[in-house]
Amino acid sequence: MKIKTICCIGAGYVGGPTMAVVAQKCPNIKVTIVDINASRIAAWNDNDLNKLPVFEPGLDVVVKEARGRNLFFSTDIDKAIDEADMIFISVNTPTKTYGKGKGMAADLKYIELCARQIARVAKQDKIVVEKSTLPVRTASAIKNILENTGNGVRFQILSNPEFLAEGTAVEDLLKPDRVLIGGDNSEEGQKAINALVDVYANWVPNERILTTNVWSSELSKLTANAFLAQRVSSINAMSVICEKTGADINEVSKAIGMDSRIGSKFLKASVGFGGSCFQKDILNLVYIAKTYGLNEVADYWEQVILINDYQKNRFSDNIVSTLYNTVSGKKIAFFGWAFKKNTNDTRESAAIKVADNLLNEQAEIDVYDPKVNTERIYADLDYLNTRSSEQNRKLLKGQSSPYEAAKDSHAIAVLTEWDEFKTYDWQKIYDNMHKPAFVFDGRGILDIKLLEKIGFLCYKIGSGAKV
Ligand code: UDX
Ligand code: UDX
Repeated sequence: MKIKTICCIGAGYVGGPTMAVVAQKCPNIKVTIVDINASRIAAWNDNDLNKLPVFEPGLDVVVKEARGRNLFFSTDIDKAIDEADMIFISVNTPTKTYGKGKGMAADLKYIELCARQIARVAKQDKIVVEKSTLPVRTASAIKNILENTGNGVRFQILSNPEFLAEGTAVEDLLKPDRVLIGGDNSEEGQKAINALVDVYANWVPNERILTTNVWSSELSKLTANAFLAQRVSSINAMSVICEKTGADINEVSKAIGMDSRIGSKFLKASVGFGGSCFQKDILNLVYIAKTYGLNEVADYWEQVILINDYQKNRFSDNIVSTLYNTVSGKKIAFFGWAFKKNTNDTRESAAIKVADNLLNEQAEIDVYDPKVNTERIYADLDYLNTRSSEQNRKLLKGQSSPYEAAKDSHAIAVLTEWDEFKTYDWQKIYDNMHKPAFVFDGRGILDIKLLEKIGFLCYKIGSGAKV
């Protein structure tokens, strides 16, 4: 079976870039991305490529090439489903905020809605591909809905988890380490798998396309994210010991990373990992383990989250204790709000928790982030429901310049590792701050020796260089 039309439901951080690259690399396939959010679709269609709803280096070029040729963004979900040979589901699956599994299980309501909509609209056989990260065995639930509420149409369900990291999405999509496709062992299932393999084969070498059964594929995604997050929590746990003993976490990371069995990536100590996936996927894993009565397994993985929470709280505690145990009425400048550099995504960003803790201490915060707007920051804080939205707006301000954010502040906290922070005129920043002036580098990116020479008192995550 040769795929000629693809529909993707969900024009977010995953669906948008992934399908833009599919369209760019497969000019003979018509790709339509649909979303219930009309303003998001309008932004994807905007002539001004700076207004795309997702910021990713290189994405504008890909969209420019394919949009209008074989890449379309639309709110007409029914039409796109009807036309498509293959439908990707790329809607969000947040952690449940209510009922059974609250705070842990994935909320699959959007996935179920998509499945029902596909069942209602489809008149011909279709391949449905799970792109969203899902708990193991979701595919069988989708299959059940499709087969029992449909119009006698036959569906094949594939799992094709996304491994792109935000900030490098286009690069990761163009040159993936591997593409994973899970499907049914039946003849029909194998045909569906092959149809999707053929799509990727347009630009991904065959040896990098891996096929498995559906459940292995679903579980591999959770496992990959759990292992990556575990590395960050492991190195962050060591960062605390470094600070106590005078060892330097960057030196430790380098030394262990040169062991080829360990490898050098994902060993950067930080104020804590964020992003839409790590926490959610581990909570999912913990929930699955608990469901099967595997409490030791659940506890093991939960510890990765607990260390991450500890790291965020430790950072804000350190700011408070260093500033003579009170930050009330003091201005603290935040450099960075995004959960990592080169993205405008803030979901689960460490900055949110650190800000929340400091605002509880009645600090005033001025935030500068090159790509995150102030409305997003307020939305993140309001969502916590810790204080009223008026209070959040009173205590925290967004600034469009780092110099303005730092002016008259007592301390600067680096929450995101944006490269531009290294290029600032730090003398100028220092001159306009209250003295003593502090820098708390939660990402370990600044040249502490230089800052100390200027007169700053510095704390660098995981290092002896501290105030
Ligand atoms: C999401 C999940 O967070 C991630 O786990 C999964 O791997 C991929 O999907 P992301 O693309 O980053 O990741 O989410 P988001 O940017 O929130 O985009 C989801 C989009 O789906 C939103 O634009 C939303 O409007 C849309 N949506 C949601 C629908 O079109 N229909 C729905 O029923 C629900
Ligand atoms: C992750 C996975 O990498 C990706 O494969 C999956 O598809 C989605 O989840 P993402 O969340 O976009 O991607 O970013 P990632 O680069 O993994 O970073 C996650 C968090 O860990 C960020 O907050 C980052 O700053 C932090 N991190 C990462 C560290 O603190 N130290 C490191 O060494 C690496």
